[in-house]
Amino acid sequence: MRAAVFYEVGKPLVVENVELGSPRAGEVLVRIAATGVCHSDLHYIKGDLTMPLPVVLGHEAAGVVEGLGPGVDSVKIGDHVVLLFAPACDHCRYCTSGRPHLCEMRFRVRGKMPDGTSRLRAGGRELNHFSCVSSWAEQAVVPASGVLPIGRDVPFSIAALLGCAVTTGVGAVVNTARVPPGSTVAVFGLGGVGLNVVQGARIAGAVQIIGVDVLAHRLEAARRFGATHTVNAKSDDPVKAIRDLTGGGADFAFEVIGRAATVRQAVDCVSRGGVAVAVGLPPTREELTVPGPSFVLDEKTLRACFYGSSRLRFDIPRLLALYDAGRLMLDELVTAAFPLDRVNEAVATLDRGDGLRSILQMAAN
Ligand code: APR
Ligand code: ZN
Repeated sequence: MRAAVFYEVGKPLVVENVELGSPRAGEVLVRIAATGVCHSDLHYIKGDLTMPLPVVLGHEAAGVVEGLGPGVDSVKIGDHVVLLFAPACDHCRYCTSGRPHLCEMRFRVRGKMPDGTSRLRAGGRELNHFSCVSSWAEQAVVPASGVLPIGRDVPFSIAALLGCAVTTGVGAVVNTARVPPGSTVAVFGLGGVGLNVVQGARIAGAVQIIGVDVLAHRLEAARRFGATHTVNAKSDDPVKAIRDLTGGGADFAFEVIGRAATVRQAVDCVSRGGVAVAVGLPPTREELTVPGPSFVLDEKTLRACFYGSSRLRFDIPRLLALYDAGRLMLDELVTAAFPLDRVNEAVATLDRGDGLRSILQMAAN
């Protein structure tokens, strides 16, 4: 099959022939139909975060089940599926306590399948998997717990976004922070994930939703997704603007960029008793800081959100129901589609902040 291989930080990805091993026990083979280009992939490409190389990136995807390893009965050949980058074992303390997104399997697999081996090879060399998905490819072998069947009527581009951006963004609001109706909410970073935080806040019944970005077109998009106010952090101090607009500080602030400086702004812009949520993945060497005395005296909370704190098998169907009801804007999120061969252009588009979300659309579809 063809896949985009990431060999070296700062170098373009190489689209080449890659050998894909057959699915083993508990694994499935998926033909990728569409896969999103997310800033988490870009963090690794730029070297802000590290992982074992070479690797096939891509963690936001949808496709069709094409093969089953021994013992798999949760899906059938031909099923349309969303790929999940947090495979779950179903019996660790996290799975059994209703937090499968924190399953310990994810921490064991680093670059490999759950059995500790790789299904990917190129030029006689073993390649690493990315979060048991590696979807910037024509096909992928993934754990059966890493696929969720969906209806055939769901467009693959929409289904792909449910694999990361939508589930993470909306989940940050409704699962992680549990924003109650009538809240005031600030959102730092209005890309593919941040716009879903904005629409999650709208669905949750927030009365003020203040979007912050440095790109004018993203601020405009945020208004369409439900922001009531926007602040351009290039020209205005977002902390002051948010404190002014909310009369003393927002109830909730979400950082959806992945930088310590903006996490600090999120902490600083919330009111007494307010909650700041770190959704973006900060670079390896950065530390997140809070102001000593006022953090305690103002009784603030800083908490993190991974994958929207989602129970994916429950949350993805309910997100689809919101989409069907016309309350979740997903078609509007996809602003460009590239063939796999042009993956480096798609990555550059994300890096420049052009459009909203780009996807790679595979040739067979
Ligand atoms: N202040 C405000 N906005 C900023 C700033 C800043 N200082 N710096 C960057 N931004 C904006 C960018 O202009 C862009 O619109 O943050 C947005 C980030 O959006 P994307 O690049 O589309 O990233 P996305 O895929 O949404 O991921 C965001 O969430 O899941 C994590 O790892 C992911 O850390 C990443 C974050
Ligand atoms: Zn992502």
